[in-house]
Amino acid sequence: MLSNNKDYLIQNWFSSPVYSAFADEWVEKLTPIIMKQLDSENINKNRFYNGRTTHSTNNNLAELTEFSEFTESLKSHAKIFIDELGYDYEKISENFKPYYFATELNKGSMQERHIHAFQLSGILYIKVPENSAPIQFLDPNHIREYMDWPIKDYENPNTFKTVNYKPSKGSLLLWPSYLYHQVLVHQVNDNRIGLVLNL
Ligand SMILES: [Fe+2]
Repeated sequence: MLSNNKDYLIQNWFSSPVYSAFADEWVEKLTPIIMKQLDSENINKNRFYNGRTTHSTNNNLAELTEFSEFTESLKSHAKIFIDELGYDYEKISENFKPYYFATELNKGSMQERHIHAFQLSGILYIKVPENSAPIQFLDPNHIREYMDWPIKDYENPNTFKTVNYKPSKGSLLLWPSYLYHQVLVHQVNDNRIGLVLNL
């Protein structure tokens, strides 16, 4: 007899892990530094509608000394994640190339489905007004697009092809960089600020 008094076992063998933790202690320290970057003349306003980002400005925030203490903390989160997934943190971290950029979403801002060309990616939410746009993760297993079984139990995670994560100030997410994600349209008048992380 197996678990749950059933004589069979169903296992999920190919998972898409997303790590979440609360890193609120960094919000206050990093907010003025991030705002200074977003307010700089060299800011990128073209990447998403109505938003601002330091992405593609040749300004890698991870290279600023103000972020070096944060990078050590981020690596300790990454180590927990990678260790628990069964991979070799020591070898993987040798190839870390930290690249951070700040993002500001304003009303109407969104970002279409994409991946990042790193090992681990993530975000630290710095400012999140109520009803901010969620980040949506998409099933990387594309072959499932060809298997459209009708769903009976929408609460069953096996049926999910997308997962929406509702951000909150101080929450930190990390995921393998191959995981597709997008940001749905930000519909509120206040801005949402995040520090996007890549290792
Ligand atoms: Fe992204």
